Amino acid sequence: MFGEQKVSYSGVQPSGNLTIGNYLGAIRNFAEYSAQYKTFYCVADEHAITVRQVPAELRRRTYETVALYMACGLDPAQNTLYVQSMVHEHAELAWILNCFTMFGELSRMTQFKDKSARHTDNINAGLFTYPALMAADILLYQTDVVPVGIDQKQHVELCRDIAERINQIWPGLFTVPEPMIPQNGMKIMSLADPTRKMSKSDENPNAVVYILDDRDTMIRKFRRAVTDSGSEVRYAADKPGVANLMTIYSCFTGKSMEEIEREFAGVGYGEFKLAVGEAAADALAPVQRRYTELMADKAGLEAQMKKGAEEASWYARRTLAKVKKKMGFVQLS
Ligand code: TYM
Repeated sequence: MFGEQKVSYSGVQPSGNLTIGNYLGAIRNFAEYSAQYKTFYCVADEHAITVRQVPAELRRRTYETVALYMACGLDPAQNTLYVQSMVHEHAELAWILNCFTMFGELSRMTQFKDKSARHTDNINAGLFTYPALMAADILLYQTDVVPVGIDQKQHVELCRDIAERINQIWPGLFTVPEPMIPQNGMKIMSLADPTRKMSKSDENPNAVVYILDDRDTMIRKFRRAVTDSGSEVRYAADKPGVANLMTIYSCFTGKSMEEIEREFAGVGYGEFKLAVGEAAADALAPVQRRYTELMADKAGLEAQMKKGAEEASWYARRTLAKVKKKMGFVQLS
């Protein structure tokens, strides 16, 4: 709660092209909150540099992510959309939270374990303390709800623990946030290996469907998706490939698993996979059209980034000032 307002906060790293996992697990759910909550959605460029980035690409993807937020239905008049590095309070609060976050807690984060195994030549301190920066993002805005996919739940839970620890010393300093995980689409799996999460950093482009893939590419990727032995379209734990495709189809069409099973009864996987590809392409076509228009106006995007950063700073400054005072840092008037 910021004053009387309930707050929804989330973020996306501009560390690769955004996938339908990012869309279904997170971004498309962000807009739901804007009627009742004050909403902040950031482009987490400071998180992105925990893995080595090409600066020009990071810059380009930052513009793209702001444009995608808007193309996915986030109206900047109703949602504060901004770039994390433009609000310096994030890095400042992250330092303070680092001093309230335990080495053991950070060591248990599965994302750290995965990423440090994948980037053995660059296990930097930022990768390790990444959840403290994410906690700073969330706590600066006195956030009530954090809409994310299931892979970020552990980080939001650590953020809650940090907030509760600090609130024990200074009651009420932070709102303790709640992760909001969608029932359907919380973890979209790779099309090449349905036991692994679909990830924007996957080296195999056929494993991942990007929000901006053109219609033919999307349909081709779904047609090649790994299914299972058998030929029945049935939602079951021993059929992870088919279950993943059914989830994607369900998210894009709003149909239940039973309806999907009925629709494709007696039909082979080929026809089913084509239908999933078409449903995804149909649903994303308006997003892509709007994205192309927005990207053609770079000055317009920069104006939105500036407005968003100013709005976010107003809130961030207030929380940080309160925190610094509690810490015992001298405040000059
Ligand atoms: P990131 O950039 O990895 O992912 C952005 C959002 O997409 C969700 N997601 C998925 N959901 C379903 N299926 C998938 N295959 C899939 N892949 C990704 C993620 O759960 C996430 O919600 N640390 C965060 C970014 C961040 C943040 C924050 C989030 C920075 N500060 C504050 C919430 C609050 C991250 O790396 O997300």
